[in-house]
Amino acid sequence: MIPVHIAIIMDGNGRWAKKRALPRVFGHKQGVKTVKKIVKAASNLGIKVLTLYAFSTENWKRPQSEINLLFSLLMKFIKKELKELNDFDIRLRILGDLSKFPENIKNEIDRVCEITSKNTGFELNIALNYGARQELIRAFEEMSKQGIKKPTEEIVSSFLYTNGQPDPDLLIRTSGEFRISNFLLWQIAYSEIYITNKLWPDFTQQDLEAAISEFQKRERRFGGI
Ligand code: FPP
Repeated sequence: MIPVHIAIIMDGNGRWAKKRALPRVFGHKQGVKTVKKIVKAASNLGIKVLTLYAFSTENWKRPQSEINLLFSLLMKFIKKELKELNDFDIRLRILGDLSKFPENIKNEIDRVCEITSKNTGFELNIALNYGARQELIRAFEEMSKQGIKKPTEEIVSSFLYTNGQPDPDLLIRTSGEFRISNFLLWQIAYSEIYITNKLWPDFTQQDLEAAISEFQKRERRFGGI
């Protein structure tokens, strides 16, 4: 079976640049190229949902210049790719708290999400200022506001940013780190995890296919025998 939902922790942009004695920004720029390739590859392979971790709540600790560059790359991506998102029938959703973002960025993101909201071929989630614990706290607060005293798993799921989407079947992390880094803690309860040493800018469609074929070899028991 082809995984329905794949989540990726895109790691290693900085190391990719360092290996070439280039500033870190070059790694992020190359990382955006990989994003474009992998979105297309995933959609062609029949995957339905792709979630990419672009900016975590912890990434604010990076130098302001790097944060600015990441935001500007993201904005360029969102603006420039709007046509392609529509051509490929891709719906864009942002997972994360955008309230801290400048008004113009927030408005542009909302606009693109709204324009693509009718697309049903493929769902692209970009996690931005995202942290799984924060996502859960937000869900608990909302449930409490609505007077929900006995939440079920389905109810909790429906208060997460991924509301309505299936949980990831496969979680990929690049650049060889064995960490979850506060990503989708609730949703990855039964995900298969695949870690590759490839740095994100070097990650290709073949690497994605290798991850999928490894996934297909695994026997998922969901706690059964
Ligand atoms: C990890 O590399 C990467 C990030 C924190 C940012 C990922 C962002 C992009 C690929 C660009 C924008 C995204 C989209 C969706 C258009 P790192 O900097 O942590 O690398 P290092 O661990 O080698 O230092």
